[in-house]
Amino acid sequence: MSLKEKLIKEKLPRHVAIIMDGNGRWARRMGANRIFGHQNGVTPVHEVVEASGELGIDYLTLYAFSTENWGRPMDEIEALMGLLVSTIKKETRKLVENNVKLRTIGDLSKLPDTPRRELIRLTEETAGNTGLTVILALSYSSRTELIQAAKNIVTDACNGKIKPEDMSCTLFEQYLETAGIPDPELLIRTSGEFRISNFLLYQLAYTELYFTQKFWPDFRKEDFYAALLDYQNRERRFGKISEQL
Ligand code: IPE
Ligand code: IPE
Ligand code: MG
Repeated sequence: MSLKEKLIKEKLPRHVAIIMDGNGRWARRMGANRIFGHQNGVTPVHEVVEASGELGIDYLTLYAFSTENWGRPMDEIEALMGLLVSTIKKETRKLVENNVKLRTIGDLSKLPDTPRRELIRLTEETAGNTGLTVILALSYSSRTELIQAAKNIVTDACNGKIKPEDMSCTLFEQYLETAGIPDPELLIRTSGEFRISNFLLYQLAYTELYFTQKFWPDFRKEDFYAALLDYQNRERRFGKISEQL
């Protein structure tokens, strides 16, 4: 039986998040420039988007660029922004045809004009789609997201829109960029790093974590299925004991 056939549809996560890591080391290992690694990181994006759509997963969040990544050498940042634009342009038709909806989280105002415009265009163009939602985290920082939520909550409180006793998880979540999106049940990080790197700190509270040594450019559908299968074999207790489940 193939890995895909082993997956139980009813036990699939609704939302998978991925920290796509290891492009630079993948390229360096073959004596190439880091940018070559980023170029080869586009194929696995196709693979996981396609696989998620085929399996009927509702949300796929991809960590593509963190606020900390702005500290990288300028030529690498420019190459990443260029890749973003060319990928969006090439993929638009396929995404629209496949009923994929694009959303972004992160501070898009920090992005150069062209990628920002292309992202807004594609978000608007796919807004009515009802299939898989792909959430691109770009210029994203979870701490910034939480601080912004705090600012907006204080403002609303000062304006009398909310009272301290109104605050709850449900209300707080409405102030996050991920408002309306269920928390990821599964987080995948490639490249053998075991950290969260300022990604979805609130939303990952009870997420199952899956780490693989594979560098992102080598990640394929089979690796995605392997992660999902691993997830399906876990017992999610949420603080309870096995016998209660
Ligand atoms: C992930 O790969 C892509 C981005 C962070 C944009 P890296 O570029 O971090 O690759 P490594 O981790 O240096 O190998
Ligand atoms: C996290 O990867 C950000 C993305 C994958 C976009 P990094 O490679 O930037 O993270 P650190 O620096 O290893 O924590
Ligand atoms: Mg990295």
